[in-house]
Amino acid sequence: MKILVVGSGGREHAIVWALKKSPKVDKIYCAPGNPGIGELAECVNIKVDNLQGLLDFAKKEQIDITVVGPEIPLSLGIVNLFEGEGLKIFGPSREAALLEASKSFAKEFMRKFSIPTAKYEMFYDSQKAEAIKYIMSQGAPIVIKADGLAAGKGVIVAKTVQEAVSAVEDILGSKIFGSAGGKVVIEEFLDGEEATLLCFVDGITSIPMVSSQDHKRVFDNDEGPNTGGMGAYSPAPVLKKDIENAIINKILYPTVLGMHSIGKPYKGVLYLGIIMTKDGPKVIEYNARFGDPETQVVLTRLKTDLVDIILAVIERKLDQIEVEWESKPAVCIVMASGGYPGKYENGKEITGIKEAEKLGEVVVFHAGTDINNNKLVTNGGRVLGVTALGNDLRQAVDKAYKAVSLINFEKAHYRNDIAKKAFNR
Ligand code: AMP
Ligand code: GLY
Repeated sequence: MKILVVGSGGREHAIVWALKKSPKVDKIYCAPGNPGIGELAECVNIKVDNLQGLLDFAKKEQIDITVVGPEIPLSLGIVNLFEGEGLKIFGPSREAALLEASKSFAKEFMRKFSIPTAKYEMFYDSQKAEAIKYIMSQGAPIVIKADGLAAGKGVIVAKTVQEAVSAVEDILGSKIFGSAGGKVVIEEFLDGEEATLLCFVDGITSIPMVSSQDHKRVFDNDEGPNTGGMGAYSPAPVLKKDIENAIINKILYPTVLGMHSIGKPYKGVLYLGIIMTKDGPKVIEYNARFGDPETQVVLTRLKTDLVDIILAVIERKLDQIEVEWESKPAVCIVMASGGYPGKYENGKEITGIKEAEKLGEVVVFHAGTDINNNKLVTNGGRVLGVTALGNDLRQAVDKAYKAVSLINFEKAHYRNDIAKKAFNR
């Protein structure tokens, strides 16, 4: 079987790594991939938003299944395009991906189907005055969200009314997020610990994966600006069995049924970003894909053949499959370029990955790397996802940090407190 994976980050490296273990797979291509992925797959230089280029490649190479990593091609309709040509592809349609691509769609959907989430109101760019009035009436803290995809930057958690008003001015007035600024969602601030539940969904049947938790802020103790994610671990003990059951019954099932009932059946991976409030778990966000870096800790624990699961999703046979997981916990520490998520320099030589992987049950997933003069160098904000399994969480954390200590590049930055929340429990 020939598989094409679309994307180039740590998430896609983890997907390729998991696919590579399948005896059904003869060859994996990745567009555009990265040097780490290049050790397992053939990287092809096609960008993730070049849908026609990807389609032409898939036809020419007679790809059996295409697996989509990032949200951009999904929201552009790559699944609609491939399915229209009779090709097998893993991911939601453009319409179903709206759960991630449009905050206003997601909020209206949750309201319609009584799915627990933060209370909100929505305003168009002609309604700036009403939006400001609403903020005044609600007070702070309050959360302002631009409507479209804004690379994780479209959410402002405002501590003061003034901060909230200027966020509305920036989004609706100055349009700092471009087309994502036609609408804003203003929502209630929710207080609680966050966790992620990734789920396989085939349109009707859904199977939750093992739980995980991301670390969004750049510095220890959740300080500093938000990033794409600085580390993750799985399982997340905050998602105790009864809470997980509540998420499945009150969030996952109603979401899948709701999407089916409005004619946008959801197929692929559904990412539930959950916050544990005193009133129970609520949805902070949906994503229409695997999370990054959550995938690195979830797929390293997957025992079932990922190809079988993907085929079951595509063929709507998820009810006929049992998904099994490794009981050992996994931890991923993201090594980033100093300065990220602000300005940083590329081109720093990376050493020590082989030594780190010799520790056993350690995989170093590449995110922002490149080859320059035959040397592996940094090429992005998040550079590596150093991932380890352990007999218990303590062992996994210690091994992951030991691995990190063996890897070097100039101005490397990582958090020292990944999984600390789990130990605090
Ligand atoms: P989102 O892109 O919607 O996931 O938002 C990014 C981050 O902003 C989340 O992971 C939360 O940490 C925070 N956030 C979003 N919405 C809320 C909310 N209603 N209350 C508190 N924090 C929030
Ligand atoms: N880790 C957050 C995300 O994938 O959106």
